[in-house]
Amino acid sequence: MSRDLTEAVRLLQAGELVAFPTETVYGLGADAANPEAVAKVFAAKGRPADHPLIVHLPGAGHLDRWARDIPQAAWDLAEAFWPGPLTLILKRADAVPLAVTGGQDTVGVRVPAHPLALDLLRAYAQAGGGRDGMCGIAGPSANRFGRISPTDAEHVREELGTAVALVLDGGPCQVGIESTIVDLSRDDAVPRILRPGHITPERIAAVIGVTPDFPAGRPAGAVPRVSGSLDAHYAPRTALRVVASADLAVVLAELAAQGKRVGVLARTESGAAESAAGCCRLPDDPEAYARGFYAGLRELDQGGNDLIVVEALGVGPDWAAVADRLRRAACGAGEG
Ligand code: TXA
Ligand code: MG
Repeated sequence: MSRDLTEAVRLLQAGELVAFPTETVYGLGADAANPEAVAKVFAAKGRPADHPLIVHLPGAGHLDRWARDIPQAAWDLAEAFWPGPLTLILKRADAVPLAVTGGQDTVGVRVPAHPLALDLLRAYAQAGGGRDGMCGIAGPSANRFGRISPTDAEHVREELGTAVALVLDGGPCQVGIESTIVDLSRDDAVPRILRPGHITPERIAAVIGVTPDFPAGRPAGAVPRVSGSLDAHYAPRTALRVVASADLAVVLAELAAQGKRVGVLARTESGAAESAAGCCRLPDDPEAYARGFYAGLRELDQGGNDLIVVEALGVGPDWAAVADRLRRAACGAGEG
């Protein structure tokens, strides 16, 4: 673990992998303009090559080098939310290698808000950036494909071990779930949310004057353009079951009677949850819950439990982003 930016920049320029903190989750960084470096990201994650990576930029001033035909809405959103947890999908500039876009003609870009990420990106730009002077760091979440996203530096080591040359340690991530992704690449189409996150559709609408499309779940028959939209994403290895608050005590008693070792991810105060083999209680507030969600799941996944019981989330739009992650975790449970 390190905070050595000079070494991080040197490694990136040499085509090596550097994991770095962002405000959402840790990213697995590589020079986005270098196809061989990008290939190492896919290999380290075990991720299929047609899943595009997000490119992290030092600032919106770099957008022109990565995207073309940038609509006004993109500039407005960048102005309002960057640095921050919002990824824009735009038409790809010619200079962007297809390796980083998964072969697509669009590119995902964002400026992260974590101070260490920004310092890294700025130091990288200062040092001349990567190939062809392009200053983008490709950074998917620094976990093995389909697994729980890392929200601190220790998780990255657990996931990727020596496959990553350097892990920059910026402490625990403040947002805790991945950025909101909004697709602005389709001419004349209403912007579309591809992945919900901390930046809500309402906040986006307030900036661009149109409510973005927010398809509930994955569009039928759609190719998984966003790997996070594969149902088995963000999954613990332990089987996972979501239980309503009101049923928690009864269900846990039944499981105990069956001799099951259960880890509970609780949200409200519950004696039954606290007397389970493992219990992690997260705050009953969507933002604070999101901050601790992946770390809680990871802890229970490693606790030698037969089953993880998650107390059902609160209802309403504020819970939508974390509900999306929980739904996927529940789908993929037990698949490893
Ligand atoms: O918060 C985040 O976005 C984190 C941090 C590290 O920045 N990154 C992240 O990356 O979640 P990843 O690769 O795990 O998920 C990003 C998603 C991928 O599922 C990818 O398919 C999607 O963004 N994406 C990237 N480029 C895209 C494109 N051109 N079109 C559609 N989706 C794209
Ligand atoms: Mg991911």
